[in-house]
Amino acid sequence: MQNVILTGFMGTGKTTVGRLLATALGYRFVDTDAWIVAHDGRSIPTIFAQSGEAAFRQWEARAAQTLAAERGLVIATGGGLLLNPANEAVLAPSGPIFCLVARPDTILARLHADATERPLLNQPHPARRIRQLLAERAAGYGRFPQIHTDDQTPHQIVAQILQQLEPERVD
Ligand code: S3P
Repeated sequence: MQNVILTGFMGTGKTTVGRLLATALGYRFVDTDAWIVAHDGRSIPTIFAQSGEAAFRQWEARAAQTLAAERGLVIATGGGLLLNPANEAVLAPSGPIFCLVARPDTILARLHADATERPLLNQPHPARRIRQLLAERAAGYGRFPQIHTDDQTPHQIVAQILQQLEPERVD
């Protein structure tokens, strides 16, 4: 048993898909943002506002180190965590990493309800910012196998991941 790790931009469905995938595999689900909130005691927007993004990125490195020591987890990482090669080096030995991908309009529609939860997008022109960040991060996300999520149900996305896992699963 290993871990399965999900990365991808905000709003690509990591948490929703990760929960379903964990159920399908009989693994435990962990979301790194929730892990950080549980350990710090503050919300993500409050950590960004009071301590800055660098402090949040330090928490992400701690989450990566702690969770990499466990097995049998589906780990939904915050959208920036695996863009740091040091975090990739820590997590990759614990299991395969998949990157969920979506078009900017899909991302915007999925995030509209809770944009205030995402400090990086909580600004007057979120659509422009999404396109800008996606361009900046294209190479970083491109390192991982891509799972397309547009026009697909969470169950269909889980099925895609399970199919890719099949050859390497040892139950
Ligand atoms: C971030 C993504 C967020 C959260 C933080 C920063 C990013 O997580 O970690 O707001 O840099 O992409 P989700 O991808 O779960 O929204």
